[in-house]
Amino acid sequence: MDGKLKGQRALVTGANSGIGKAIATELGRAGADVVVNYVANDEAAAQVAGEIAAFGVRAIAVKADVSKEDQVQAMFARMQQEFGGIDILVNNAGLQRDAPIHEMTLDQWNLVININLTGQFLCSREAVRMFKKQGQLPISKAMGKIICISSVHEVIPWAGHVNYAASKGGIMQLMKSMAQELAAEHIRVNSICPGAIRTPINKAAWETPEALQSLMKLVPYKRIGEPEDIGKTTVWLASDDADYITGSSIFVDGGMLLYPGFEAGG
Ligand code: BGC
Repeated sequence: MDGKLKGQRALVTGANSGIGKAIATELGRAGADVVVNYVANDEAAAQVAGEIAAFGVRAIAVKADVSKEDQVQAMFARMQQEFGGIDILVNNAGLQRDAPIHEMTLDQWNLVININLTGQFLCSREAVRMFKKQGQLPISKAMGKIICISSVHEVIPWAGHVNYAASKGGIMQLMKSMAQELAAEHIRVNSICPGAIRTPINKAAWETPEALQSLMKLVPYKRIGEPEDIGKTTVWLASDDADYITGSSIFVDGGMLLYPGFEAGG
């Protein structure tokens, strides 16, 4: 354990699989106590919490649907009770429900907006309330840190995924507006924007050699990202090494944003 976040208390939403699991694990490895939020699969959540506790930090799994105000408030109350406060919130929970626009149902639209965007609002609001109540602690230069997990699709339009792209575009302005509002109180708010990372959400894009080859046309660095790429960036962004960073979107995408279609031609 390098101890960069020793004694800090973190909550990671959607932390029992994929990117959220890697983030929670890396935060624990760096010395933070971690609340592993999840909505389904108790066993997987308990296992992640167990793996984190093996680093010698505290870790608990807490079930809550981030799009439900009462469940979010109960989760933060539990964190207050168990850990005595919060220093780092990572808004990670997210999902896709893809369909062409003419076939997309209102339920598909609402679910994605509710989890991906409203969930980040509800959790951020509770975290900010707790940061303000706690005040500045000697544990970190900042009074609190919020990291929003966005996507390259906060800027890259995505045909067939209008609900998802709209939710990520919304996260960008949620994050930047919160950062502007809270900077004077030394609450830092930033986003990490993953590109193609090997997780269950995009299995179809990497599970066969043909799919992976086609995906690589969009990735100048010519490898798929791993969840740990995002976990390690999160530790750094949450730490005092990144104390002067607020209101930024950090793209962790192997160059996906570099208009790869222009590698040749134009
Ligand atoms: C999506 C993935 C996709 C990646 C790059 C992510 O935000 O969740 O499904 O592979 O963006 O397009």
